[in-house]
Amino acid sequence: MDSQIAKILREADQIILSAKSREDLERVYIKFFGKNSDLNKLTKKILTLPKEQKPKAGQQINLVKRELEKLFEEAKTRLSSQLSALSSPIDPTAPGKRIQLGHLHLVSQAIEEIVEIFSKLGFLLQSYPEIDWDWYTFESLNMPKNHPARDEWETFFIKASPDPKYGSQVLTPHTSNGQVREMQRVKKPPIRMINIARCYRRQIDVSHTPMFHQFEGLLIDKNVSIPDLKGTFNFFTQNFFGPDRVTRLRPHHFRFTEPSFEVDITCDVCDGRGCRMCKSGWLELGGAGMVHPKVLKSGGIDAQIYSGFAFGWGIERTIAMKTNTDDIRLLYQNDIRFLEQF
Ligand code: DAH
Repeated sequence: MDSQIAKILREADQIILSAKSREDLERVYIKFFGKNSDLNKLTKKILTLPKEQKPKAGQQINLVKRELEKLFEEAKTRLSSQLSALSSPIDPTAPGKRIQLGHLHLVSQAIEEIVEIFSKLGFLLQSYPEIDWDWYTFESLNMPKNHPARDEWETFFIKASPDPKYGSQVLTPHTSNGQVREMQRVKKPPIRMINIARCYRRQIDVSHTPMFHQFEGLLIDKNVSIPDLKGTFNFFTQNFFGPDRVTRLRPHHFRFTEPSFEVDITCDVCDGRGCRMCKSGWLELGGAGMVHPKVLKSGGIDAQIYSGFAFGWGIERTIAMKTNTDDIRLLYQNDIRFLEQF
């Protein structure tokens, strides 16, 4: 019996260790514990032994069984840890994936840059509503109801009953609504404000999107004149576009400024000589002018004592001019191949 038990244990060690799967292991288990196993035969054999040998033989068999169970348990644990390593979604030995670093969107970059340039001249960034009353958007800016000057800008109105004084609410088509709001906030000049906000208009083509950003500047003080406005634009242009660029003022008409101008800058592509990108060497930046006395009055400011200038133009347009992008819509298509160039 002793030699048979030793044989079982020797075999078991090798066979159990060589099991490659749970199924393998089950098969081996039956081989050792099944009806036809050597162990079972030995157990039965105990019955035939003389009485005094039975207890010892029983103990030996139990010992072997425990030893085998232990070997099976170990094999099971080993197999299941091997299997879970195989099916784990994480391979700790694989080389890491490099995380692609993004950056601020061009519009956000430009906003930061514009704010910084104007802050050097003492202009403070203010935020005024994106949905505002008719009064702040038009009427206080010298655009009475039904005036044709509104046509281009009367766009998306909110369905709500109008206020008796301020009228309806509108998605602002320009940031000029911040002008009178700033005058009311400060009450007594000096005022140096930049207002940056989203604007909305009925437009879409290579140089227009229905939603875009504008920045509006307003400066009010004693003795402000056109050279101050021109100097401010040159400072901005040279800091934003480059030291060689210059501006010019072209007479224009806006209801809220008198006199009014369109501001142009020299074209980067041809250096002002004239090319396909520009109008004979100049690119149009946006509108500006000396604040109309009626607008000062709307803001409660005495036009006899104070004067000022204002300007406003699109951020997307400004970016397009700086980067020589010929389709503004690219800014909003989220094409990484375009965006990651900046
Ligand atoms: N609000 C005008 C627009 O959206 C731009 C503008 C022109 C703003 C003249 C001004 C200004 O402050 O003085 O086209």
